[in-house]
Amino acid sequence: MHALPGSRGRRRTTARRRREEADPLSTSTKDAARPVTQARITEHVARLGEQHPPLSLGPVDRTVRDPRAVAARFGSVIDYMARVELEVERNVLELLLMLPGVGETDRHFYQDVWGPQEVQHGLILDQLQTDLGLAPAEPDVDGVSGRVKVLGALAHLAPVQDVVRLMYYLTGAATERSAVMAYNVLGDGLTEMGEDAIATTIIAPIKRQEPGHFAFYSMSARAMVAAGELAPWQLRLARFLRSRSFGLVGVNRPSQEADAGAMMVAMGLDADLERYARDISRVETELLWARDQGMRVPGYVLATLRDAVDAHRARTLPA
Ligand SMILES: [Fe+2]
Ligand SMILES: [Fe+2]
Repeated sequence: MHALPGSRGRRRTTARRRREEADPLSTSTKDAARPVTQARITEHVARLGEQHPPLSLGPVDRTVRDPRAVAARFGSVIDYMARVELEVERNVLELLLMLPGVGETDRHFYQDVWGPQEVQHGLILDQLQTDLGLAPAEPDVDGVSGRVKVLGALAHLAPVQDVVRLMYYLTGAATERSAVMAYNVLGDGLTEMGEDAIATTIIAPIKRQEPGHFAFYSMSARAMVAAGELAPWQLRLARFLRSRSFGLVGVNRPSQEADAGAMMVAMGLDADLERYARDISRVETELLWARDQGMRVPGYVLATLRDAVDAHRARTLPA
């Protein structure tokens, strides 16, 4: 079963628990002060694997008091998250292409720890949306995008591979951070609606697994930069590629842009998109842009979020 984050858990305040869930790197000052080394990342992945086995459908309590109300308020979020979680199968194919000389810690993370956890999140959410009377998710699990094929071809050149690896970590950090936020909003919203069974047996256990994923990507990106693994030209190339290729997780076809916008609107994130952009791009802002631009939100992140919300609004306008 789930290892709850530490036996001191009961004594911690809700505010502190939230802070820790939001940023597991800040779990203790002693920990945060330790330099991020490859050994620490390897240790983190081993711990994630031991403490968080993939969830199963068994302990899920499928009681939903008002399926229609849940579907109306959060249907778009649950559908989006179910699809994205199930698409990890394709993500693994993409990773194999993008990181041909992958190291053992990365492989262990995505093949043995992250992938199996995410697939179970997807299956559980998919069952939930069927229970709500919604259509099952339609994940695209075999189409590797052209963009990834190009990166994959370039990644065979060792100096470019390091750049691609950094981009993979930055993408992962942004994606996992948005997952943490989505499950926080879903958990709070469902509890507020009196849907305690699904809030505590579906969303809470999934939510506990996401911060560890974020921590992996964030630590891996920081370790690369801190160790000076990238020459100035490689960091410049990373900035260029990132600003040209940034995309939201789960947006692989034009219609999915509006789906992402619908999800953001259902979560109330459209009220302060800049804050959302700052939150999901914190790692890349710090590693790629802070030197030149300070901690300003990268324009391409904010523009991508705005475009998604606009696409959703355009789709829902009366004809
Ligand atoms: Fe997940
Ligand atoms: Fe995740």
